[in-house]
Amino acid sequence: STKAVILVGGPSRGTRFRPLSLDVPKPLFEVAGHPIISHSLKAVAKVPGLREVILVGYYDESVFRDFIKDASKEFPHLRIQYLREYTALGTAGGLYHFRDAILKNKPERFFVLNSDVCCSFPLGEMLKLFEEKDAEAVILGTRVSNEAATNFGCIVSDAHTKRVLHYVEKPESHISNLINCGVYLFATECIFPSIRSVIKRRATRPRLLSYPSSDNLDSSFIAEDDDAEKPEVLRLEQDILSDLADSNRFFVHETKDFWRQIKTAGSAVPANALYLQKAFQAQSEELTPPSAFIVPPVYIHPTAQVDPTAKLGPNVSVGPRAVIGAGARVKEAIILEDAEIKHDACVLYSIIGWGSRVGAWARVEGTPTPAGSHSTSIIKNGVKVQSITILGKECGVGDEVRVQNCVCLPYKELKRDVTNEVIM
Ligand code: GDD
Repeated sequence: STKAVILVGGPSRGTRFRPLSLDVPKPLFEVAGHPIISHSLKAVAKVPGLREVILVGYYDESVFRDFIKDASKEFPHLRIQYLREYTALGTAGGLYHFRDAILKNKPERFFVLNSDVCCSFPLGEMLKLFEEKDAEAVILGTRVSNEAATNFGCIVSDAHTKRVLHYVEKPESHISNLINCGVYLFATECIFPSIRSVIKRRATRPRLLSYPSSDNLDSSFIAEDDDAEKPEVLRLEQDILSDLADSNRFFVHETKDFWRQIKTAGSAVPANALYLQKAFQAQSEELTPPSAFIVPPVYIHPTAQVDPTAKLGPNVSVGPRAVIGAGARVKEAIILEDAEIKHDACVLYSIIGWGSRVGAWARVEGTPTPAGSHSTSIIKNGVKVQSITILGKECGVGDEVRVQNCVCLPYKELKRDVTNEVIM
């Protein structure tokens, strides 16, 4: 049988997702009308014979309780549980710590999914490759530009056999533009022994390397590695995958479908767009039907009130009880629960936080994230700014005020025009 583990991380990992992570744990933030992790869960639920999903992280026990309750109703054939690490153990440390739970009922293989990626999760195709090759591990890969590649794990593979020849996590210089999507399938009988041998090796030869740490809102790419030096921390990418490449049973499935990382808060906007487009292609009934005022794809929660003369879309999600007034224009945006957009206001490339208010004739706008750059910051007038404008919880934008490329912390009132600022 097959299981799935979703790595949800913990509160300290969500710092680049501020200000949104101040009010909701990143995995539960809603894009295209559903929490980020429910998109991965949906894909996992479709794998034939897969009956068990384990969320592994170091958030408080209570954090995923309601989510699991709802998801268990939606997918009655799945047993979903959350296992909490006592501290951040790293992407392989958590797997190893909970190996007994993973090994229970003797699954032959299990998927591991980073919770902060957005893609079509072609798990069936990964499974097929896994069986075809009698693999120890299959990794999902995608091509990105050479400039973006070094911000990810890079894979050198044999194009013909799909075998992974080398794996280097965030290399200093270019080695490949085929990158790690953060989705894996492992043979149980091989991954745990690999982790164990790393632990042994480390016990005899302690690591002296140090890694950069970062806590920075606008550096979208530096790893959040504050805890990398703790001895119990084991990282799948740096510690295990390069070893696996030395075996000859590690393969890569390259997806041609969409893939994005959800790191900064702004990256929720492209993720929202991609999942809405996916739902639109699947003719999902959840989406609002196209009309003169609705440019698909658009998701409006049933309890939201949208004036019939407001023009929405493409790529807009409107949350529960949000209110959108007459003549408003909303495009490439996420309007969260209880937010209000007054008449004739305009919201573009932005996220409007829970309970925030945008005044009449106001403009809240960001800039399109450059296609293929895999980054949500742009250079404006020589300064690095967030391309997506974000209002945290319960912010207010006055009537006729213009907010451009700003990140606004919760409970701020914007009475004057602002551009390229972090408002704290
Ligand atoms: N349970 C648990 N415990 N989860 C963790 C921990 C931990 O200590 N540390 C990270 N995670 C989770 C995060 O929540 C995220 O879902 C995933 O593991 C990877 O996070 P990072 O360790 O921050 O890595 P990254 O996102 O910079 O890079 C990884 O993902 C890229 C694709 O998005 C690497 O796997 C790259 O190679 C890859 O390209």
